Amino acid sequence: MTHPRRRPALLRREAVVATVPVAVAALLTAAGPATAAGSVGAPGVGDPYFPLAGNGGYHVSHYGLTLGYDPSSRHLTGKAVLAARATQRLTRFDLDFTGLKITGLTVDHRKASYKRDGQELVVTPARPLRKGQSFRITVTYNGKPGPVTDPDGSLDGWIPTDDGAFVAGEPQGAMTWFPANNHPLDKSSYDFTITVPKDRTAVANGLLLGQSTRNGKTTFRWRQKAPMAAYLATATVGRFKVKQYTTRDGLKVYDAVDPREATAAAPVLKKLPSVLEWESKLFGPYPYRAAGSIVDHAPNVGYALETQSRPLYDRAPDLSTLVHENAHQWFGDSVSLTSWKDIWLNEGFATYAEWLYSEQHGGDSAQKTFDALYARPASDALWEFPPGNPGSGANIFGTPVYARGAMTLQVLRNAVGDKDFFRILLAWAKKHRHGHGTTAQFERLAERESGKNLDQLFMTWLYAQGKPSHP
Ligand code: TRP
Ligand code: ZN
Repeated sequence: MTHPRRRPALLRREAVVATVPVAVAALLTAAGPATAAGSVGAPGVGDPYFPLAGNGGYHVSHYGLTLGYDPSSRHLTGKAVLAARATQRLTRFDLDFTGLKITGLTVDHRKASYKRDGQELVVTPARPLRKGQSFRITVTYNGKPGPVTDPDGSLDGWIPTDDGAFVAGEPQGAMTWFPANNHPLDKSSYDFTITVPKDRTAVANGLLLGQSTRNGKTTFRWRQKAPMAAYLATATVGRFKVKQYTTRDGLKVYDAVDPREATAAAPVLKKLPSVLEWESKLFGPYPYRAAGSIVDHAPNVGYALETQSRPLYDRAPDLSTLVHENAHQWFGDSVSLTSWKDIWLNEGFATYAEWLYSEQHGGDSAQKTFDALYARPASDALWEFPPGNPGSGANIFGTPVYARGAMTLQVLRNAVGDKDFFRILLAWAKKHRHGHGTTAQFERLAERESGKNLDQLFMTWLYAQGKPSHP
């Protein structure tokens, strides 16, 4: 309940030291925010933890992804059509894309020149783009995709399994399977057309528009209309048992379950409608029309992901994991980060949802969960760094982000009282619905709603090093 959603005890401390290269420090200043020199789009949006994530100079409004995957050869063919809009004049811009071979690239149907530089795909369109111009990028590609290794040693992206692929992009892996403006600052709608052998299922985000089988292959068409960050996109493939139904509230539920996980998953998945109803009471209307679960059998992944509209699990989830991933639909998916440093806005809130669920369903109160954590000695990993300032991309999924992040909300609740606290949660989800929120904005909203000065509270719980001396 208080653990990060990661299971293997990765060597987090060693990873920090070993995998933050000196070069990254240099890039920090080099990439900078999207204040591009002249008419060249910046190679990153200026995220200090992931300097090359996302790109400057344009926004993507829509991704149309047409994919074909053959699980036995692990070969992927792809065509990505991006509808974008320039936010500055552009003689050149970048996409994030790594690994796969590119066979064609056009901008507004004209062949564009490109070169690859690590994860940056540097595109020079035949004609410069005007500021404000809408344009279309088409990239065709293929190859054998694989995951990226994150600063903390975890894998994300296209992760092949024994019967397909577990496709999870947080924080960086979207670029392993489609060219993207790969930062949560840019949210877009998506269409997916995915073709797999007819004994497999391909599950993406949003509503299933249709499926058809021909020549031994099935094509699935999915649509996510609501804005989505690239890391929340999935195209998970496997031999799945599928169940579809509509909830009382009219949500279209699509469950895809690996048969090896089916017995353990069934009693938990059955609770999804009641969990979403409960979360809607606390956080406001569910942000999407589609819902569900993808339960894969991916024993070496070690985490679940809040893929938009339909979380993805590496194994049968327990109930608190289901509550956690679905709470992210409000906190993380609908209200998105502008910077990975603010990750506690995702993980602290989703963890606190678990505590509240327990409290309101006959389990421990949130206060009791808080107390048990607070009792941990100052030397415990829980106090290793403050959740509002994890320090690097290697720490974004660390215990303090989840547990001390949730503890911050409990301290806030105690300071403002239940009535104001629950109004703050509702107001936060409502005000930033389908958009973005920062920690500073959350602090201001909490102060406005409660009429209290909360500087000291947030300073202590979000930003101060070490174990706070007062609960
Ligand atoms: N956001 C996921 C969750 O809490 C966890 C997660 C995603 C993760 N990607 C990861 C954990 C990579 C460790 C490493 O539900
Ligand atoms: Zn989470």
